[in-house]
Amino acid sequence: MSTQKFNIAVVGATGAVGHEMLSILEERNFPINELRLLASERSAGKKLSFKGKEIEVQVLNENSFEGIEIALFSAGGSISKKFVPAAIKAGAVSVDNTSAFRMDPNTPLVVPEVNPDAIKDHNGCIANPNCSTIQMVVALKPLHDAGKIKRIVVSTYQSVSGAGVKAIQEMYAEAQAIIENRVYQRQIFPHQIAFNILPQIPQENAFMKNGYSEEELKMINETKKIMGDDSIRVTATTVRVPVERAHSEAVNVETEKKITADQARELLSKAPGVQVQDDLDKGEFPLASNATGQDPVFVGRIREDLSLENGLEMWVVADNLRKGAALNAIQIGEYLVAHPELLKKQVSSS
Ligand code: A2P
Repeated sequence: MSTQKFNIAVVGATGAVGHEMLSILEERNFPINELRLLASERSAGKKLSFKGKEIEVQVLNENSFEGIEIALFSAGGSISKKFVPAAIKAGAVSVDNTSAFRMDPNTPLVVPEVNPDAIKDHNGCIANPNCSTIQMVVALKPLHDAGKIKRIVVSTYQSVSGAGVKAIQEMYAEAQAIIENRVYQRQIFPHQIAFNILPQIPQENAFMKNGYSEEELKMINETKKIMGDDSIRVTATTVRVPVERAHSEAVNVETEKKITADQARELLSKAPGVQVQDDLDKGEFPLASNATGQDPVFVGRIREDLSLENGLEMWVVADNLRKGAALNAIQIGEYLVAHPELLKKQVSSS
């Protein structure tokens, strides 16, 4: 086994996903030589703990990537657009958790359980898909391989942590204010999130002329790119619910070849990254509260669609900060360290 260790930067280390990245890097014993933590000026001098040591957060700038081999970005799309090129110039491979480069034809969009080999085609940046897309494609890939998916209809129930640390704080503060009959001044969500449900993601500039939200279009376009199949028809309704962590999805799929509910359970029970939780007699099905802090994509309520010949219904739940973001990015990082020749690629080709 290789004992090589790598210089890693985490951009957005103080955020909700950044925090999760640090714990997963530690948990999985990622082979790290230097860990560089980067955030905004607001975090200058702050220290974060990693493997029992305190590491000072540095302010992100154009020179932050000198000597870095893998840069994990999770500080928002505008930061990625500005600084991924700087990371590439410095010779680092970026794994970008934002939507900045996901649909760029020169940037692979990767879920390691679905299309790991796309990583080989990188040009310095590999995009991590949208959280809701990741958990859905992990659950659907084995069904697509077995029966070829024709159409997907998905409705999401997404937790507030997907909108960042401040959104979590806002949900609790607003709930407390409502309980105490106080007025609450919202800063993140455009409408009440506590004890309410918002069919608008993201919370700012959400809707297109055709009535779909940005998040819905991400699910539609990213699914086709990751599955490598433009013929799959996808429609989505994405919804924010007052849950701190883990996204839930009601997924309906129509396949070319019939897959029974039992066959689906069998296929999913063998699929990488999936855990079937589907025993109605025991009241067992996936719950956001149980998925929180866990790695698998949980699938349950698997049943044949009564309205369709070749249709399946299922309930898919995963921790949006782990598999939906940090874990998926670190799995991509693990693929890179297992294929270290890919870390030199953009340097040798430039
Ligand atoms: P900071 O904590 O210094 O603001 P979340 O999505 O949970 O809100 O986290 C966003 C992350 O992105 C945080 O780590 C935040 O750092 C970081 N970030 C936001 N704006 C910038 C910026 N201009 N430069 C560097 N990091 C940024």
